[in-house]
Amino acid sequence: MIMISRDTIDTIISSTRIEEVIGDFVTLRRRGANVIGLCPFHNEKTPSFTVSPTKGIYKCFGCGKAGNAVNFLMEHEHFTYPEALRYLANKYQIEIEEEAQTPEMQQELSERESLYNLNQFARDFYEKTLHETEEGKAIGLSYLKERGVRDDIIRKFQLGYNPSTWDAFTKYALDNGYKLDYLVKSGLTLQKDNRAYDRFHSRIIFPIHTASGRVVGFGGRILTTEKNRPKYVNSPDSDVYNKSKSLYGIFFARNAIASKDTCFLVEGYTDVISLNQAGIENVVASSGTSLTQDQIRMIRRYTKNITILYDGDPAGIKASFRGIDMIVEEGMNVKIVLFPEGEDPDSYSRDHHPAEVQEFIANAADNFILFKTHLLLKETEGDPIKKAVLIKEIVNTIGLIPDGITRTLYIKECAVLMNVPEQVLMNEVRKILRNKIKKTFPELKKPEGIGWTEDQTAPFQETYDIASDEYQEREIIRILLLYGDDVLPLTRKNDDDEEEAYTVKVAEFAVLDILHDELTFENPVYAAVFAEYVKAHQEKRIPDRNEFISHNDPDIAHTAVDLVFTPYELSINWKKNNIHVNVEENRMKELVFTAILSFKSKKLDKIITAKLKEMQESSDPKDQELLLNELKNLKDSSIVVNRELGRIITR
Ligand code: GTP
Ligand code: MN
Repeated sequence: MIMISRDTIDTIISSTRIEEVIGDFVTLRRRGANVIGLCPFHNEKTPSFTVSPTKGIYKCFGCGKAGNAVNFLMEHEHFTYPEALRYLANKYQIEIEEEAQTPEMQQELSERESLYNLNQFARDFYEKTLHETEEGKAIGLSYLKERGVRDDIIRKFQLGYNPSTWDAFTKYALDNGYKLDYLVKSGLTLQKDNRAYDRFHSRIIFPIHTASGRVVGFGGRILTTEKNRPKYVNSPDSDVYNKSKSLYGIFFARNAIASKDTCFLVEGYTDVISLNQAGIENVVASSGTSLTQDQIRMIRRYTKNITILYDGDPAGIKASFRGIDMIVEEGMNVKIVLFPEGEDPDSYSRDHHPAEVQEFIANAADNFILFKTHLLLKETEGDPIKKAVLIKEIVNTIGLIPDGITRTLYIKECAVLMNVPEQVLMNEVRKILRNKIKKTFPELKKPEGIGWTEDQTAPFQETYDIASDEYQEREIIRILLLYGDDVLPLTRKNDDDEEEAYTVKVAEFAVLDILHDELTFENPVYAAVFAEYVKAHQEKRIPDRNEFISHNDPDIAHTAVDLVFTPYELSINWKKNNIHVNVEENRMKELVFTAILSFKSKKLDKIITAKLKEMQESSDPKDQELLLNELKNLKDSSIVVNRELGRIITR
């Protein structure tokens, strides 16, 4: 793997002036310490897109998009992270030092260049053969014409033809100075018994491009109906081509995907081509296999919405459910379009007017989770045991959705569809979430608390509603990011029962206290940030806020920027109680205590509500007695927490 060196990245980041980078795309004018302009990510008439040169970040107060210069380029220009860095390096004339310092790595670099070059050479040869040779025209072009492929589409996708002579291409390449070694490495040439011949001979050629348009491989379709030859052959994986990381058509689709904010996913080369001919350009193919995580992330650079176009075969669809779960897990919205029995996007587009195709897809698109629920419901009709399995199936999928609010919405809808109480689904989903957290952070153990509420809180149980302590969670994370490294002056009783002063870092205090009470974050982004603080705590360090601002996970990066950008925000509790604070740094202790106590108070409320409901629903007096006891403890804790809270905010 060849990478941009850490030093270079640091130089790039520190040389970058965000207002200059964004200024190349957006007209900005100064307002106070910031510069503002019309947001490039949504339509607006008055500027709410704000750039802070000193903080190096931007935020649109209209649509919420936010980030640093690199994020901007990734969002606006659809660059990958390395592409954005290269762009900045070029802009600021910084020489990129690649971490390929050994001669072997240097060689690898130039080998890749050679492979790119060779693939481009092959593409040109195949294209020329299709359009300009007798065999190409008579066999290749006429086949495509017969299938109804238009000339502009043939040109757009750079389709080609490899002659039927066994080694036509190989010979031509060798004559042009390409080494046999590379021809074999690229997979264009096969070697057997000391003979070299064309992998794709007598096939229609579909060049496969990277998202930035470089040709890295080919698919070749047979023309005849020979039984003993496979319909398609594909380039093998090479240093430049990795089947599981590429998507057919992405280069031609990416702008349309971004502007339509949806990506259509089909199975085959010809589906992509026919849909394009019907005016649908935001379409890519997985080439007959189920999607990999890399492919999903590639699509996610342009949109969070993916619509899978299936030919109508329920068995095949069910088999693909697992793969679709992966897309859900990436936080994407998945829709399904089912074509009529026996039709695929290609055949349907050929038999219908483009407008009809577009209308059909728009009307047939069904949300994946609801689609799955419907499909499985049909199968389990009147069979309670199967229904239990169905619930688990659906809950498994819902549990994968990273966003808590979306999860709750699906729980509500599916509960109605399946005729099960919402709470049942809710509890199942929670179980899954808890297991996931345990799996991700097996090292997470309960540490010793520093004990200011040690004996005041009852054991917390997690059976409450999913998405409504957002604010309290957010406030904790905001404090960690902004003030984690600040010092809290505290007092404690020593062994001789005397008050003594001591200090502790804000992050350390908050992490220990929250862990001690086994409180968890519902919001997955906040949970992830908090988990990183816990990890750092175990390594006896406090994370730098910039680790989050330039985090690999864009959701974390955006959230961090968002929280850091707003210098001060009244917490809901304080607002409600009409408390006025001028400079929050000066009241660190109050700020931190209030945030933690509000967080606890909120979580306690939810647990109490849940327990009360449980008690009302229970008919077993033993259970009720136990619950009553628990409730008493919880109420006591709640009183203590709220009294503390009251003491702080009314002082
Ligand atoms: P047409 O039959 O020309 O309409 O092509 P298609 O692209 O629609 O093919 P099909 O629906 O049969 O298969 C979908 C995709 O699976 C193809 O685009 C190929 O990527 C892949 N595929 C199909 N058959 C083969 C095969 O024999 N070998 C390989 N390696 N891949 C295949
Ligand atoms: Mn087909």
